[in-house]
Amino acid sequence: MEFSIRAAVLEDCKDIARMTKELSEYEKVTDQVTITQKDLEQDGFSKNPFFHGIIAEVPEQHRTKEGHVKIGYALYFYSYSSWKGRAIYMEDLYVMPEFRGKGIGKALMSKVAQLGMAAGCTQLNFTVLDWNKSSMDFYLSQGCFDVTGDMGYHCMRCDGEALERLAQP
Ligand SMILES: CC(C)(COP(=O)(O)OP(=O)(O)OC[C@H]1O[C@@H](n2cnc3c(N)ncnc32)[C@H](O)[C@@H]1OP(=O)(O)O)[C@@H](O)C(=O)NCCC(=O)NCCS
Repeated sequence: MEFSIRAAVLEDCKDIARMTKELSEYEKVTDQVTITQKDLEQDGFSKNPFFHGIIAEVPEQHRTKEGHVKIGYALYFYSYSSWKGRAIYMEDLYVMPEFRGKGIGKALMSKVAQLGMAAGCTQLNFTVLDWNKSSMDFYLSQGCFDVTGDMGYHCMRCDGEALERLAQP
């Protein structure tokens, strides 16, 4: 199927918000999602963006029955490893169900890898839920490895009241 991948622009935030919601439904974490279209607009498209995005788009003739032509996306940002230097972090990778298995997810991830390499990054990092076997298999098929399993790293987080307490001077 014909599709194109391009950098996300401000006007894509409505569709990115829609697809982040779809992804959260797929990942069964909808109750945890507080992000809004406005947050995305502010955080991704102001002077010092916190993230960047790319969009997968299909021609009009392949639009969904709801009329969507923006059918996949990836969000990413740059990070740093004190061992290896520049790194790129892929926050989300998503393709709408009816467009999966057509090479679109691979093309999105490949674009994130290209952007990272062009910026001098030597690592592409991301997380995947332990039950999401199909996506884990997809990542393994792309040559990725499981940092938790192979190196013992766990993702850690501090948020809510604990973060507020921690941030007390
Ligand atoms: C994961 C996801 C992005 C993959 O996108 P996709 O468009 O379906 O995948 P593609 O068609 O690009 O697959 C590319 C390659 O991966 C392989 N692949 C895809 N799914 C696979 C699977 N479940 N097991 C093994 N290989 C798989 C394909 O065989 C293909 O290999 P090839 O290039 O050698 O032919 C998509 O399925 C998705 O959005 N899933 C739901 C959301 C999600 O889980 N996102 C990741 C959150 S961490």
